[in-house]
Amino acid sequence: MKFATVGTGWITSAFIDAAKLSGKLSLQAVYSRRKESAEQMAAKHQAPEQFTDLEQMAKSDKIDLVYIASPNALHFKQVLTFLINKKHVICEKPIFSNTEEFKEAFAAADENGVYLFEAIRNIHYPNTLLLKDKLKAAGQIRSAIFQYVQYSSRYDAFLDGKEPNVFSRKFSGGALMDLGVYPLSLAVFLFGAPKDSHYFPVLLRNGIDGAGTLVLEYADFNITVMCSKISHSFIPSEIHGEKASIVIEGISELSKMQLVDAHTKEAVLFSENQEEQNMVYEIRDFVKIMEEKDREAYQRLRQESFDVLTVLEKSRKQNGIHFRTDRS
Ligand SMILES: NC(=O)c1ccc[n+]([C@@H]2O[C@H](COP(=O)([O-])OP(=O)(O)OC[C@H]3O[C@@H](n4cnc5c(N)ncnc54)[C@H](OP(=O)(O)O)[C@@H]3O)[C@@H](O)[C@H]2O)c1
Repeated sequence: MKFATVGTGWITSAFIDAAKLSGKLSLQAVYSRRKESAEQMAAKHQAPEQFTDLEQMAKSDKIDLVYIASPNALHFKQVLTFLINKKHVICEKPIFSNTEEFKEAFAAADENGVYLFEAIRNIHYPNTLLLKDKLKAAGQIRSAIFQYVQYSSRYDAFLDGKEPNVFSRKFSGGALMDLGVYPLSLAVFLFGAPKDSHYFPVLLRNGIDGAGTLVLEYADFNITVMCSKISHSFIPSEIHGEKASIVIEGISELSKMQLVDAHTKEAVLFSENQEEQNMVYEIRDFVKIMEEKDREAYQRLRQESFDVLTVLEKSRKQNGIHFRTDRS
């Protein structure tokens, strides 16, 4: 399958490298708004073609699939451009700014007979499956704390009076959209959609959440999700069961996980070493779904993405965080 890319940030290079490792996708073209950066990107990754016109790239019959890594607010319009030209789309997290965009885009994917996927890597790792399996050994889950608290170098620019996309409501940014989406997606993958949710943001001067605490309510337990782009955490995430706790290092990487007995306090490592280019796992999952036309797996991912976006949207509405792309 031949693919193209949108966006020239580091994550696009990481995706291209992972695509190469997967052995399933070959890079055909790159897009940038500027000729110079399109050329640089094409040279860096030996892409046969480069574009500065998105429509033109979307119409190319040499491309089967596009990977989109642009600012969140642009996802919807760009995704639609490719879907209506019958290209499969892998779009970066969070897939859209609101659920209206989500419904419209997935309907367009169905109408055009193509697939649309959200690139949220931490629900596709081998370690994610090991974690889900290990929940049984933890016994009845009673609480969890998931955190992604990472100081962003872009916050320095924000403090200097600028407004980087990720700290902007215009571009559907904020801590919950950018980082909270990882722990939230993992929670939805492991436990399903929460019964209810409440977000307590730390708002910055322009009304964006620089940090926040999201409480997810389930039938027998709550999950506290902490996210921040304006401070840094040095503690792991944890799931607390009646028999044992699970300690997770790196909620977006799931690099190291231990089961710790609640009584003996004995810790057993159960995670495995994963590929450094860990986007390879989502790529393999997406390609498998397309090759096998596995509608069930596709619907499962789609529902999870929808449940995550529903919480993201509700969290914003609870706090009057309005995005430019919001229709209501
Ligand atoms: N999966 C992950 O681990 C991961 C990691 C980082 C980011 N992401 C996601 O990837 C996406 C991009 O994030 P990022 O931090 O790379 O964003 P970014 O730096 O703000 O922008 C990414 C690219 O979009 C284009 N762009 C920037 N501003 C634009 C504008 N005003 N109008 C049109 N195009 C614009 C630029 O490409 P050109 O100038 O070349 O056109 C830029 O390279 C987001 O959805 C983010 O959540 C995912």
